[in-house]
Amino acid sequence: MEILNNFSLKNYNTFGIEAKAEQFVAVHSVSELKSILEQNKNQKKFVLGGGSNMLLTKNIEALVIHIDLKGKKILKEDADYVWVESQAGENWHQFVLWAIDQNFGGLENMSLIPGNVGTTPVQNIGAYGTEIKDTFVSCDAINIESLEMRTFNKEECNFGYRESIFKNEVKDQYIITSVVFKLTKQNHKINTSYGDITAELAKNNITTPGLKDVSNAVIAIRKSKLPDPAELGNSGSFFKNPILLKSDFEKIHQNFPEMRFFDISETEVKIPAGWLIEQAGLKGKRFGDAGIHKNQALVLVNYGGATGQEILDVSKTVQDTVFNTFGIHIEAEVNII
Ligand code: EPU
Repeated sequence: MEILNNFSLKNYNTFGIEAKAEQFVAVHSVSELKSILEQNKNQKKFVLGGGSNMLLTKNIEALVIHIDLKGKKILKEDADYVWVESQAGENWHQFVLWAIDQNFGGLENMSLIPGNVGTTPVQNIGAYGTEIKDTFVSCDAINIESLEMRTFNKEECNFGYRESIFKNEVKDQYIITSVVFKLTKQNHKINTSYGDITAELAKNNITTPGLKDVSNAVIAIRKSKLPDPAELGNSGSFFKNPILLKSDFEKIHQNFPEMRFFDISETEVKIPAGWLIEQAGLKGKRFGDAGIHKNQALVLVNYGGATGQEILDVSKTVQDTVFNTFGIHIEAEVNII
């Protein structure tokens, strides 16, 4: 375990932003992680997982700890379910593909989401009608100050739309080291209710899809809309879809009758921010090396040489334009550092 100084993070964030870590170390086991935390008690620390949900706007004046814990195992199983534990540093998509290969169901709708397993609970990742909370059992985490290990069960995680306890009450206090999922072995709950999946399966004449079919459909949809970070720097959806009270929405809807919306409760609706950004005329717009993706307006992209500040400026332009057009504030989903 070597601590490196003045280390470039360009290959450690999917936006591909050039920023330096004052110090950087990759840890490969919980015991390495513990000793690094112990030896650097008074040092400022920054935890880095897959780097797929952050925008670096400056150098990090801290010890950056890259969580590179690998491994997965079956904890227990019965006739219907299997409990699988994955270490935090496993690549999420590889983990999903592995589960599908074992015929374990529940993760297939979340194929091709960038990032590592350990960061999935932090923002309760989700796609195409499924969220991590649907299969999540618990996660183990280490307290950065006391070094005590703690298991968080599902209730304790307080999962919400792209939300959890890790973004709120215990923010910056814990490092997740492993996650346990409960997956189906048979009677898989195939979820094709999200419109795009139904259409993609129909296109391929698949009427009774299995896990692999759903995964392939999701992969095809994502590839058609979302840029591959290896080719074009990005962090997935940059903004959250705003949630409005129905009473507020109704007033806005009168002025914009074509506005898309989804009922999410008796009193609230969710508006697709991608639609708002597109209608505000920003889809595909480029400002230097930073821009708004041409196929999915919710995604901001780095054409190569953009700085984090330039991407942040574009995000502010997007927020202001959407607000001035519709009177709706859209909030960043990505962590801005
Ligand atoms: N839309 C537009 N223009 C756009 C983009 C979207 O009009 O440029 C409209 C679409 O036509 C559709 C609606 O907005 O009616 C929803 O679009 P889409 O199905 O692409 O999903 P999204 O709401 O834009 C969310 C997640 C994605 C996830 C997809 C699929 C958030 C912030 N984003 O996007 O998650 O993949 O649903 O489930 O909730 C991520 O979090 O990084 C991410 C990519």
